[in-house]
This record gives sequence, C-alpha cells and structure tokens, in this order.
Amino acid sequence: MRAFAPTGRARSGAPHVVLAERPQPRPRADEALIKVGAYSVNRGEIFKLEEPAAQWLPGKDVAGLVVQQAADGSGPRAGARVVGHPMSAGWAEYAAVPTDALAELPDHVGTVEAAALPLAGLTALRLLRAAGPVGGRRILLTGASGGVGHYVTELAAAAGARLTAVTASPERGARLRELGADQVVHDVAATTGPYDVVLESTGGATLPLALARVRRGGTLIWFGQASRTPVTLDFFDFFAGPESATLRHFHYMDFPESFAEDLAALVRLVAGGRLHPELGRVADWSETAATLADLRDRRIRGNAVLTLS
Ligand SMILES: NC(=O)c1ccc[n+]([C@@H]2O[C@H](COP(=O)([O-])OP(=O)(O)OC[C@H]3O[C@@H](n4cnc5c(N)ncnc54)[C@H](OP(=O)(O)O)[C@@H]3O)[C@@H](O)[C@H]2O)c1
Repeated sequence: MRAFAPTGRARSGAPHVVLAERPQPRPRADEALIKVGAYSVNRGEIFKLEEPAAQWLPGKDVAGLVVQQAADGSGPRAGARVVGHPMSAGWAEYAAVPTDALAELPDHVGTVEAAALPLAGLTALRLLRAAGPVGGRRILLTGASGGVGHYVTELAAAAGARLTAVTASPERGARLRELGADQVVHDVAATTGPYDVVLESTGGATLPLALARVRRGGTLIWFGQASRTPVTLDFFDFFAGPESATLRHFHYMDFPESFAEDLAALVRLVAGGRLHPELGRVADWSETAATLADLRDRRIRGNAVLTLS
C-alpha cells in the first residue's frame, strides 16, 4: 500500500512528506483495519514532521471503511463506515485503529466531514469540558480561525457563552460570526474583557495580553503555541486584573473518557445538525505536502481534509 512518510526536512519551503510504498499494517487484537477514504492534517503534526521520530508515520485523523474487525471482537464490524483517531500512520491507504478510538458513522454523515472531526473536535469538546459550565460566561478565544476554533465557537455559543474570537483578518473570522461568536477581533490588544475564561493557543506576546483580560479569579487555559514563541510573564501584572487567576495547561489526551466515547458524541452532534465541520480545504491526497505548507502558513481556515479515491 501507499502511505505518507516524513522526509525530515526543515521548517520552511520544502514539503515534509513523501508518498512511499509501505507494508499494509498488521492490526493488534484490539485494532480494526480501516480502508481510509479521507484524513485531515493538523498543525501539531506539522511540528512533529520537522523533527520526526524514527519509524514514525504521520496521521491521526481518518475516516473510511472497516475491512477487518478487531480480532478480539470489539468495535465496528467489517463494512461499517467509521471515523477514527489512531496515534499515527493515518495518511495511508490502510490504517490500523484501536477500537477505543473508533466511532461508527450514520449514513448521512459524510466521510470527508467525519475526517475533520477527531483531533480538532476532541480538543474543542474537551477544552469546553475543562472550562466548566460556560452558559452566560464570557470567553476569549485566540487562534480562532483554525480547526479547533470553529468547533469551540459553535459548541460554546450553543451552550450560551458570549465568545470573542481573535483572527488575523475579517475574512478569517466571518464564519465564526455565523457559528455564534459574539464578537470577532483581529488584535487581542483590542479586546477589553474582563473574561471569565480565556482559551489561548498562540503563545508569544499574545498570551500575556490575553491573560491581562482575565477577570479576577478567572481562568486561562493554555492549549497551544502556534507562534512557536515562548511566553514571558510578570507576577506583578496579575495585580492589574487577573489576580488569583488560574493558569491551566491543557492536553486533550489527559482525560478519562475514551476517544471512542467522545468521537461518538461529536458524530451525534454533526448528525443532529448541531456541529458543522468547517472544511477550509478539501483536496486529493496527492496534494498533502502543499496542503501542509498552506496550513503552516495560515492560508487555510478550519480543517484541511485530503481524500483518497
Ligand atoms: N493541547 C492540546 O491538546 C492540543 C490539541 C490540538 C491542537 N492544539 C493546538 O491548538 C492550536 C489550534 O489547533 P488547530 O488545529 O485549530 O490549528 P490551526 O488550524 O493551525 O489554527 C491555528 C490558528 O492559530 C492562529 N495563529 C495565530 N498566530 C499564529 C502564528 N504565529 N502562527 C500560526 N498560527 C497562528 C491562526 O489563525 P490566524 O491566521 O487567523 O491568526 C491559525 O488559524 C494549535 O496551536 C495546536 O497546536 C493543542
């Protein structure tokens, strides 16, 4: 079969991946074999591609058809359409996916939209779980034009939050307004707050500016560093507003629920018309390298999905 493998090349310019012949995966007893119909690519995978671990193959978000049920009898049967979240090797014709990271798709949820769900959708769902009840709360969301940002916005707005989204331009924020954002701004310094919760994923100079807008005793959840620039904080700045605030590190994997449970929840939301994957790019998988470059350089909104014919 064919699969994308890392080339290990540096940050700018050249693509990070090459399509290569690989042995078909041999699933463990708790893994189903999936014929991949579509997969999505994520910013975190771009970071990993710059310094790939030995033997690692990229790809965490797949949707397709079960061609072989897990040998232990768990999970969907052969012939089921599914969405899955393997830890690696999903940018391929076939992928082995643990059944505790698989959810079945109803007929009216498409393979392409389903492929956009796992990493970004799980992260959004769990970010809001970490934030606690958000009804009536004021939320500030940075890096909002990406895959995670669109899901967070729709879910938070539906739960009654008043959400301010930060995007680079009006074009990159227009869909967020439609999904329920109260306000879209293009510079975190232009926000006033105070916010009950700040969801921050860009790092650098943005995090301290966002933190300054947290209300006294509020929470900043730090879930990424898209700028790749570390953050500098001043203890004394907290006295000017976010006194006694909580600064919480977030990793979407550090939750007791299984991926299967939360993927099934996301699929139900999509099936019920309450969650709309924002497909900023859908292309043939031969365009994976170019799509990665466009995602890295902020030329894609929402999710980027690659399809296999
Ligand atoms: N902690 C976790 O468990 C976890 C899990 C998944 C993802 N993440 C992180 O969460 C963030 C959002 O994920 P995603 O999949 O939505 O990513 P994405 O689609 O790439 O979106 C990230 C957004 O950040 C904005 N951004 C602001 N400053 C940037 C900069 N200097 N460089 C690049 N982008 C910048 C961009 O929007 P504008 O161009 O409009 O500013 C971009 O659309 C990423 O940082 C990702 O690594 C964390």
